[in-house]
Amino acid sequence: MRIDILTLFPAICEGPLGESILKRARERGLLDIRIHNLRLWATSKHATTDDTPYGGGQGMVMKCEPIFAAVEQLKAAAPGPARVIYLSPSGCPLDHPMAAGHAAARHHLILLCGHYEGVDQRVIDHLVDEEVSIGDYVLTNGAIAAVVFVDAVARLIPGVLGDENSAVEDSFAQGLLEGPQYTRPPDFRGWRVPDILLSGNHGEIAKWRAAQALEKTRKVRPDLLG
Ligand code: ADE
Repeated sequence: MRIDILTLFPAICEGPLGESILKRARERGLLDIRIHNLRLWATSKHATTDDTPYGGGQGMVMKCEPIFAAVEQLKAAAPGPARVIYLSPSGCPLDHPMAAGHAAARHHLILLCGHYEGVDQRVIDHLVDEEVSIGDYVLTNGAIAAVVFVDAVARLIPGVLGDENSAVEDSFAQGLLEGPQYTRPPDFRGWRVPDILLSGNHGEIAKWRAAQALEKTRKVRPDLLG
């Protein structure tokens, strides 16, 4: 799956997307992630990518010209259609179904990261296919949200996680939060692992886990139970 990220701060993405599972997925060719500095498409003398807002107000607005030039070049350079996703606190909330949909479709994605007060509305109206938020809070930079988005989608692509079942049993994959997990030792400072997990009875263990997942969801995220 090809993902281009357009940002004014490439280093924010390079670290997290160059480590661990995503690093291996990129090396194995499952993910073709390219991180671009939007400033390279700025044509003005000082390579400006933002300007003051019309009508006054605080902050700066990211200009149309570099964004259109960059996206049009990236679309032309890759075969097949691309979807342009703008990371912004005003977007549709990212959740498991959205991530799973992108992982299944495996479209070429171009992620546009906002900064300052966001982008000129004409970018959203005429270039962006989807506006996505990673939560109801405002980050300093959309590049952080892009990393979260890529991670959430990439781990659902078959082969990216070593054991494909590990994504199936995750929190949210079944519409519930994941219950507790334990590993050795069986007794740590007097806190014992529940006996059922040591019983070797896989049927009973599965039932216990399902009950624990339901209990945890009821306690922490009752909204998920509808
Ligand atoms: N940029 C700033 N805040 C954001 C958020 N919550 N989601 C996506 N992009 C953002």
